Amino acid sequence: MFLNHGSFGACPKPVLELQAKLRRALEAEPVQFLWRHYEEQLDPARAALARFIGASPRDLVFVTNATTGVNAVVRSLKLRRGDELLTTGHDYNACRNVLVEATRRAGAKLVVAQIPFPLRRPDEVVEAILAAVTTRTRLAMVDHVTSNSALVFPLARIIRELEQRGVDALVDGAHAPGMLPLNLTRLRPAYYTGNLHKWVCAPKGAAFLWARADRQAGLQPAVISHGNNRPRPDHNAFQDRFDWAGTIDPTPWFCVPEAIRWLGRLLPGHWCELRARNHELAVRARRLLCERLEAEPPCPENMLGCIAAIPLPERFQGVPRSGKIDPEQLRLYDEFGIEVPFSRIGNPERRYFRISAHIYNSLSDYERLAEALQKL
Ligand SMILES: Cc1ncc(COP(=O)(O)O)c(C=O)c1O
Repeated sequence: MFLNHGSFGACPKPVLELQAKLRRALEAEPVQFLWRHYEEQLDPARAALARFIGASPRDLVFVTNATTGVNAVVRSLKLRRGDELLTTGHDYNACRNVLVEATRRAGAKLVVAQIPFPLRRPDEVVEAILAAVTTRTRLAMVDHVTSNSALVFPLARIIRELEQRGVDALVDGAHAPGMLPLNLTRLRPAYYTGNLHKWVCAPKGAAFLWARADRQAGLQPAVISHGNNRPRPDHNAFQDRFDWAGTIDPTPWFCVPEAIRWLGRLLPGHWCELRARNHELAVRARRLLCERLEAEPPCPENMLGCIAAIPLPERFQGVPRSGKIDPEQLRLYDEFGIEVPFSRIGNPERRYFRISAHIYNSLSDYERLAEALQKL
């Protein structure tokens, strides 16, 4: 039973079939596919994605994952000694590492805003971030939806407040596309990166980076290739630099329009209904699990998307970390066939598990999870 859509998503068969067809075409005629006719597939995919996330295609490029998007932005910054980069205690470890390395190299400082968890109000997030801003803050990396703690941050307000203090926001939106409605033109952070292989269910390796027009000039991809000195007609320099990242399999990007279309047709109310249905299921599932496990919900329901973190029962607490994956998480899979991630959050550290809700899940899945956790 798959209750962990959040980690790596899941791709529907019709989308995978399209990808297999595209891969056959690529291997049959690699030069025609990857070089001569490349833009004929890339540009419509970009246009479809732009419509889905409320963006202009001019501000949008594909990348292979959100980690790559964060790398591009952070490693393009010209940091000086004493500059500060801001992140939060709820960030994603891989993305934090990018900031750690960038600040280390420049003699800059990494500041971590301590957002409490559990928390009661979205304002606590805003207050913690703003309290950590100084005159030296160059950029703040802010999650749209956090990973382990599964919180939807009040992003519009955070971006606005940071802008007022002259601080650029890099939004790590790894979980947001497909989970939350997006309008990047309206949101207008300096940078936004998001995954499409999670909640949009595109094949693995589909993600995007959006950059506000006034931030595109200095932005280099994580992998520099031909684009820096090979301008193409009908593309801007930002697109030129990012559209070719060396020889890779671009079929995940080319499948994005089909993933958007296919999922959007599953319910009469299209994506709007799909997002609302998944959110509602996550909310009901959390209620059920908290009741069965006598657990206190760690955040209000209005901070949930389609994932939710729930504290593990007391007998799981205080167990020291061992191995890459928690042994009890492995037992849950091996003995009960349930895939759910366990994590450790907060200071003092508490152990949580995280549920996901997508179209293939129903409330009975979480009943089975509750029973399994009680037996584990
Ligand atoms: C908040 C957040 N940021 C970044 C990532 C990294 O995504 P990817 O491995 O696709 O780069 C994840 C993955 O789960 C995430 O949850």
